[in-house]
Amino acid sequence: MELTEINSRQNNENFLAEPTVLFQEGDHAVYWLGVVEETAFRCNVYLIRSADEAIIVDPGNRNFFEAVKDRVAQIMNPMDVTGMILCHQDPDVGASMVDWLAFNPKIRVFTSPRTNVLLPYYGTGAYDYYDVVEYAEYPFSNGRTLQFVEAPFLHFPGAFATFDPASGFLFSGDVWAALDIDWNLVVEDFGEHRMALDLFHKDYMASNIAARGFVNRIKDLPIKAILPQHGSIITGKDVPAALDYLNRLRCGLDIIYPELGHE
Ligand SMILES: [Fe+2]
Ligand SMILES: [Fe+2]
Repeated sequence: MELTEINSRQNNENFLAEPTVLFQEGDHAVYWLGVVEETAFRCNVYLIRSADEAIIVDPGNRNFFEAVKDRVAQIMNPMDVTGMILCHQDPDVGASMVDWLAFNPKIRVFTSPRTNVLLPYYGTGAYDYYDVVEYAEYPFSNGRTLQFVEAPFLHFPGAFATFDPASGFLFSGDVWAALDIDWNLVVEDFGEHRMALDLFHKDYMASNIAARGFVNRIKDLPIKAILPQHGSIITGKDVPAALDYLNRLRCGLDIIYPELGHE
């Protein structure tokens, strides 16, 4: 199924009751886990399955642990989850890591060193830590990879995004996150979507320099879709506009201290 066709399924009553396949090719697949959350802050949880591994991207808060586990169980045995990516330490991103680790202590945690300093304060530091800054490419046994790109100060100093070359998906965390009650899983009109992006970015993101610096890091990646932690998925046709959005963004310190700006 093409990403752009997914919205037509959204009125289906099972839409939030089952995982949605976003990409599948051989033994490599990406799912949106479809957790029900009727708030503007709605969090997206994704699952990347590749060969004998299964990695949850931003597993979410503790209240949704059982729901996320149930969604995973519709695809595979949750005991076979091998890893979790936590793009930063916010509770909406990954407080449920402690529940996953209680369920299976062998689950590996993929994160940045600055995030890893803070994660043990959720209750356990006894986990297998993969440093995404030192080892920016993670190989699966089938030859597929994940690539990690730091996103400094968007919004956490140690934030990062994850690129999956097989699908062309960029799991962007809070970057390109949008706040919207009336949402579609996939962005239909990027012009309209800018307002939902503004609601998040103007307050959370550090500055235009942080945004432009990140664009420079990712602009040569063959991105086919952007999968944020909040709000709708941005498809390939809108990726140039999404990069342009960040390049032009005035946010955070640009707004708070305009008299100190460079322009
Ligand atoms: Fe955050
Ligand atoms: Fe977030």
